[in-house]
Amino acid sequence: MRRTLFPDYPSVMPTLQFRANAHLTSLWTAAPGEVLDLFDRDRERLRAWCPWVDGCRSLESLQEVMAAARRDFDEQKALWFVIRHRDAVVGVMGLYDLRASDRRSSIACMVEEAHEGLGLVYDAGAALTCYGMDALGLIRIEAQTAAENRRGIKTMERLGFRREGVLRCAQWLHDRPVDNVVYSLTAQDPRPRRIG
Ligand SMILES: CC(C)(COP(=O)(O)OP(=O)(O)OC[C@H]1O[C@@H](n2cnc3c(N)ncnc32)[C@H](O)[C@@H]1OP(=O)(O)O)[C@@H](O)C(=O)NCCC(=O)NCCS
Repeated sequence: MRRTLFPDYPSVMPTLQFRANAHLTSLWTAAPGEVLDLFDRDRERLRAWCPWVDGCRSLESLQEVMAAARRDFDEQKALWFVIRHRDAVVGVMGLYDLRASDRRSSIACMVEEAHEGLGLVYDAGAALTCYGMDALGLIRIEAQTAAENRRGIKTMERLGFRREGVLRCAQWLHDRPVDNVVYSLTAQDPRPRRIG
């Protein structure tokens, strides 16, 4: 059966400038070493909530991740970006699990500790959710995180995502099962606005 495709899907990954000195640009335009350095600088903290960084410990593994991200973009499955601030790669953000048939997607994000608390994720998230809804025509963007991830939850709520409920034992986090909270922003909700 033929998969439904997005009618206005971009032919190249967009660059989303969300501050004079910060933008989102495709994951694979970064050098693998830049992303590896980001993970290595902050590995223990990032892996607490994003256990998949454990699979990114070498340049080869990063090259594979980037190639997969490029394939996912070509197949209309995901848009993975790095957050660049003053030319440095300081985080990763993406719309993944894109489903044209239901006009929906999920969002994920991380920023290194040295750039936390500056509102970069808020501004990047606002730009990306607006892009998803305005350019791709999404009607729902979902966010899931571990119920104990207070900072992740705060970020979603600040962006205007609404809590929908709890998925019990939704992920195996290192050595134990944890519940996930589910948040969503729909096309009917107020769009996130630039703060500050
Ligand atoms: C979750 C995570 C992405 C949040 O990052 P963050 O920097 O706190 O998020 P924001 O960009 O929204 O910044 C908000 C903070 O910046 C402050 N801020 C400063 N200027 C701001 C501005 N112009 N706009 C918005 N917030 C601003 C806010 O007051 C807030 O501070 P507070 O947390 O002390 O209240 C980050 O903690 C992280 O990467 N954690 C590890 C990975 C993770 O958990 N990912 C998500 C789940 S998979």
